[in-house]
Amino acid sequence: MGVFLRISSRMDYLIEKANWRDFVDLYRLEKVVFEQDAWPWFDLLIVLTFPGFVRLKAVHGDGGGMIGFVAGELRRGDGAGWIVTLGVLPEYRRKGIGQALLRQCERLLNSRRIRLCVRKSNLPALKLYQQEGYVVFTTWANYYHGGEDAFVLEKILPG
Ligand SMILES: CC(C)(COP(=O)(O)OP(=O)(O)OC[C@H]1O[C@@H](n2cnc3c(N)ncnc32)[C@H](O)[C@@H]1OP(=O)(O)O)[C@@H](O)C(=O)NCCC(=O)NCCS
Repeated sequence: MGVFLRISSRMDYLIEKANWRDFVDLYRLEKVVFEQDAWPWFDLLIVLTFPGFVRLKAVHGDGGGMIGFVAGELRRGDGAGWIVTLGVLPEYRRKGIGQALLRQCERLLNSRRIRLCVRKSNLPALKLYQQEGYVVFTTWANYYHGGEDAFVLEKILPG
């Protein structure tokens, strides 16, 4: 299992490849992080088991459980790697973990074009993505529960 060590001035944590054994931790994290937008359990199982997904978890450097998760998928139809989910537990936010998970996932997707979608009102995520070089590619109307639109963001990595 690959381990990507991150020691920051703000906290020590590890980024590791995730697999089906992380299902229970991911299920719990998903409920806390995404609330109404939480994926059903079978979608989480798919993301942890199907080939073609990059799945990474952040774990506390002291050996605790999962504190963050990212998954990405290469979609050959549109020639882009998609970040399909990214979340960090509330008490571990603003320590660089979301950014580190995103960067590592982008790297492993190995695609020049990366896309993702985000609620238009999700300012923390929009700030992170803007800082990481994402720009608005298009909008999907009524995409989320409650009818909120999604921004589809895109980042072109240097070739
Ligand atoms: C979005 C999310 C993953 C960010 O994770 P995080 O670990 O807190 O992010 P980081 O600490 O790596 O932040 C990196 C930068 O993003 C920006 N940022 C992150 N959260 C922010 C906030 N609440 N307000 C303003 N800027 C923010 C800042 O520029 C930050 O750098 P700084 O802390 O040096 O100022 C986290 O807030 C989260 O899990 N949110 C709920 C789930 C979600 O919305 N996921 C995205 C769905 S598309």
